Amino acid sequence: MKKKLTVPDIIAMKKAGEKIAMLTAYEVSFARMLDGAGIEIVLVGDSLGMVVLGYDSTVPVTMEEMLHHCRAVNRGVEQALLVGDMPFMSYQTGSRDAIVNGGRFIKEAGCDAVKLEGGSEICDTVRAVVRAGIAVMGHIGLTPQTAGNLGGFKVQGKDLDSARQLLDSARDLEAAGAFAVVLECIPDQLAALISEKLSIPTIGIGAGAGCDGQVLVTHDMLGLFEKFVPKFVKSYVNLAPQIKEAVASYRSEVKEGAYPDAEHSFVMQADLSALLDNGK
Ligand code: KIV
Repeated sequence: MKKKLTVPDIIAMKKAGEKIAMLTAYEVSFARMLDGAGIEIVLVGDSLGMVVLGYDSTVPVTMEEMLHHCRAVNRGVEQALLVGDMPFMSYQTGSRDAIVNGGRFIKEAGCDAVKLEGGSEICDTVRAVVRAGIAVMGHIGLTPQTAGNLGGFKVQGKDLDSARQLLDSARDLEAAGAFAVVLECIPDQLAALISEKLSIPTIGIGAGAGCDGQVLVTHDMLGLFEKFVPKFVKSYVNLAPQIKEAVASYRSEVKEGAYPDAEHSFVMQADLSALLDNGK
């Protein structure tokens, strides 16, 4: 049995200068593969809405959808820290809702921590959730749940004022008790500066190599989500064309009667002719 990673283990990795690898999962088979490959943090992201449920954004994702997929992922994770993404409007309505909904991720879905999008403005909520005993990962920069307010899916913190706000937000999140902060789509230099100023780990996505760890949407890095691929995504394998080719081969073999062949069929041991006697 592998040792389960804890929040202090993740914080210790920053102190030891060991980079943290985080990926998203939405169901058990991917969870097993990621966990088996030694990924330290598995995130059930609300990107679920776009890559698995077919929504146009993460906004419509519900608590019930998140919990359903977190439970499935939890069944496949032995070692990684499991983080559940709190969906839009499950924590923005106040600390009480945030504690109640955050608690459901832990009690009903087996998550080890939750992730909330937002900076200084949500720190009272973060503090309350942490005080209730729930580990919180922050998420600043490009925050997809409120991307419309940020002018769309754009790089954040490019000018001095917005860079200062992001640094303040990161510090406020640390002071509020967050154990790590995702930095999404911000310039490399700013992400490196924030990483240096915080004692908790930063996890970058489109934020350069100066972060303490990296996260990607698994469907993006495996070439499974073809609708839109952000600039920062590296495709480690392009699976969608391979899957389509396999499906097309299956279809033509079914049409031709080539599948199933003898190798993939079961052989009768008794003599079936007995069943044919007198047509009975
Ligand atoms: O929803 C998600 O998958 C995320 C990561 C991309 C950080 O928030």
